[in-house]
Formats: sequence, structure tokens, C-alpha cells
Amino acid sequence: MPQLHKHFNVSSQVALDELVLFIEQKHPDLNILINNAAVQYNYNFMDEPNIVNKADYEISANLTTPVKLTALLLPVLLKNNPSTIVNVSSGLAISPKMTAPVYCATKAAIHSFTKALRYQLQDTGIKVFEIIPPIVETPMTEGRGKSKISVGQLANEFLANFSKERYESYIGKAKLLRLIHRISPLLADAIMKKGL
Ligand SMILES: NC(=O)c1ccc[n+]([C@@H]2O[C@H](COP(=O)([O-])OP(=O)(O)OC[C@H]3O[C@@H](n4cnc5c(N)ncnc54)[C@H](OP(=O)(O)O)[C@@H]3O)[C@@H](O)[C@H]2O)c1
Repeated sequence: MPQLHKHFNVSSQVALDELVLFIEQKHPDLNILINNAAVQYNYNFMDEPNIVNKADYEISANLTTPVKLTALLLPVLLKNNPSTIVNVSSGLAISPKMTAPVYCATKAAIHSFTKALRYQLQDTGIKVFEIIPPIVETPMTEGRGKSKISVGQLANEFLANFSKERYESYIGKAKLLRLIHRISPLLADAIMKKGL
């Protein structure tokens, strides 16, 4: 089994170029890209002194990087088709929470990007999936939130949808949130405003 695990700071352009080179040279048979890395900062625009840097990093890690990685790895994925792109958004793409405005905006953007990319690639051998998780027990949610699901639960639900080629995978309570949002966007917004 070739060694695939290597850590890159994908928010740096130099590291991104290095990553693409690494894949082209060591893993030219790559046929899946999972855009999972992200950061969430909670802050208030009224009292956060470091807002520009924090927002910049969130937008870079959560939005610009998945877009760039998709563009840079598209030739490899096309060559190795059938292949797959999986983007991870969030239930917060449906209705944002007050404390993480930029994070929520990047997730709404990823949702929209993923859908439009799926349209563009529909006649290629690349399938574009989106995971829309609820709150999950990971370091990102340490010390906050209730009724978190495990990473294993998320993976099982996603894999069931993946095998049925359900391109948008609303997981756990994100399904309920989507339904509520369809019936009453105002109610969904009110539920999510303070976070879970
Ligand atoms: N947890 C939730 O409740 C939840 C809910 C909805 C959506 N999501 C989404 O699920 C995905 C996974 O989140 P998680 O909960 O597993 O978060 P996490 O525990 O904070 O893990 C995030 C991962 O992203 C990596 N990462 C962040 N910035 C990076 C960068 N610039 N370059 C390379 N790697 C970077 C981190 O690596 P390092 O540890 O090395 O920094 C870490 O492995 C994210 O897209 C998140 O938005 C999570």
C-alpha cells in the first residue's frame, strides 16, 4: 500500500502546488478528492480585534482552497474517471448561527459551488457529492453543542447515500432542518440563530 498520508497546509498557495505535484508524481491514479478541511471561528464583529485575519483564513481554508484544489486536480480526476469529488458543507449552510458568520457564509458558498460544479461535470466521469452534516463530535465542536452524532454515524449515512448515488447527503438532524426550512425558513433561522 503506498503511503498517502502527508500533511499540507492547504491555505498556502506554495503548499497547494506542492500537494498537486506530490499527487501527480506519487499518486497519478487518484480518483477521489474529499474537500473536508475547514476551520470555524466564533466571534462578534463588534468586539473581535483580529477579524480581518480570522475571516481571511476561514474563507481561504473553507472556500478558496476547495475551489482551487478542484481546479488543480481536475485533469488527474478526468484522466482516472470514473472519479469522485466530495465536498463537506454544513447544516449551517441552510440557516446560519449568529456566532460564526463567516464560517456559515463559506458553507453556504460551498453548497452552491458544489451544485453548479455537479452541473458542469455531469457529462464527464466525475460525480460530485456533498455531505451536509449536523453537529458532529469532533475537535471542532469540543466543549459546545448537544446531541452530537459520531463521525462513524456520519460516515455510515453518507456511504449509504453514496452507494445509491444520492448526491446531496443531508445527515441526521440536517434532514429535519432542511424540511423545516422548506416549510418555514423563518422557523429554521430561529432554531439555528443561537447555535445548537
Ligand atoms: N464537527 C461538526 O459539527 C461539523 C458540522 C458540520 C460540518 N462540519 C464540517 O466537517 C468538516 C470536518 O470538520 P471537523 O469537525 O472534523 O473539524 P476539525 O475537527 O476541526 O478538523 C478539521 C480538519 O481540517 C484540517 N485543516 C484545517 N485547516 C487546514 C489547512 N489550512 N490545511 C490543512 N488542513 C487543515 C485540520 O487539520 P489540523 O488539525 O492539522 O489543523 C483538521 O484535520 C469541515 O468541513 C467542517 O466544516 C463539521
